[in-house]
Amino acid sequence: MEYKKELKNNRWVDVPMTGDVWHLLKEQRVADTYYRRGDGQATQDLDWVEALHRNWVHELIDLSDFEYCYATNGATEAINQWLLHEEREYQYFQGEYEYPSLIKPGTEVCTGYKEYTIDPNKVLYVSNPSAADGNFFNLDVDCPVILDCTYISSTNVQEFNKIHIPPNTEQIFFSFSKGFGLVGNRLGLVYTKKPHKTLHSCKEFENWNYGSVKTMDLIMANYDVDTMWKQHRAWQLNMCKEYSLIPSDCFFLATSGDPYYTKRRRMKYNPSARLCLTPLIEW
Ligand SMILES: Cc1ncc(COP(=O)(O)O)c(C=O)c1O
Repeated sequence: MEYKKELKNNRWVDVPMTGDVWHLLKEQRVADTYYRRGDGQATQDLDWVEALHRNWVHELIDLSDFEYCYATNGATEAINQWLLHEEREYQYFQGEYEYPSLIKPGTEVCTGYKEYTIDPNKVLYVSNPSAADGNFFNLDVDCPVILDCTYISSTNVQEFNKIHIPPNTEQIFFSFSKGFGLVGNRLGLVYTKKPHKTLHSCKEFENWNYGSVKTMDLIMANYDVDTMWKQHRAWQLNMCKEYSLIPSDCFFLATSGDPYYTKRRRMKYNPSARLCLTPLIEW
C-alpha cells in the first residue's frame, strides 16, 4: 500500500543512475577537456560523437535528412534555443511535456480521446516516445514539427518500426538524462535540417560544454541504445504485475486506468495515468 501511494504521489519522471554507469563516469577527468577554444579539438570530439550517435540510434530513427548537429545542455537547452527564435504559434497534444509552455504558451490540439485538430500553420512540439505515457506512437502530420526524442535510450530498438519523422520536421532533440540517469550532466544533442539560428554560431566558435560531449562518448562507447531497457525490462514487468499496471515502452514508466491514480492522469480524454516506477527501484 505504501508503494502504491508512492506511485500515486510521484509526479516527476526521475531515473536514478545505475552503479555501473556511476563507475564508468569515474573514467572521465574534467581536465581532459581543457581545450583551447578554436584549436579544433572540441570540434573533433563533437564530430566523433555525432557520427557515433547517428549510428547508435539508427535502428530507432533515421537522421540522414538532418545535416546539422549541435551539443546542448540537455534537451532543455534545445527547447530554450528553439523557443528563443520561434515566431510562429505552436501546438501540442494533451499530456505533453510541460516545460515549453512555461516559456511560451502553446495551444492544445486534442478534442477527444485520440481525436485532435492540427493547425497546419502552427508548429507542433511533440515527444516520441511520448511524455504523456512513455509509449511510441505513429505521428502523421504535415505541419512543421519539433520532435523531442528525449526518451530514446530507455526503450527497445524498433528495427522494423522506426520512429516516423513527419516530412516538415525541423529539429529533433535527444538527451541522456532519462535512460542513463544522467540528468545532472546535462547531455543533449539537437539535429536540424537548416543551420540553427544561434547554435550554429556557437558551434563555429566552439562554444559548448566539451565535458558533456566526452560523457556522451563514454556512454555510447560502453552501452547500446537499448542496454538500459534490456537491463530493466524484467524488473519493470515484475513491478507492473505486482501493482496491476500496463508497462510502457520506456522501462521506467507504466500506465493505469485505476481511479486510485487519477491524480497522475495527464490527458483529460484518456483515463490512463502515467506512473514513474523508479521510487520502487532497488539498484
Ligand atoms: C519530453 C522531455 N523533453 C525534455 C526533457 C528535459 O530533458 P533534459 O534533462 O535532457 O534537459 C524532459 C524531462 O523530463 C522530457 O520529459
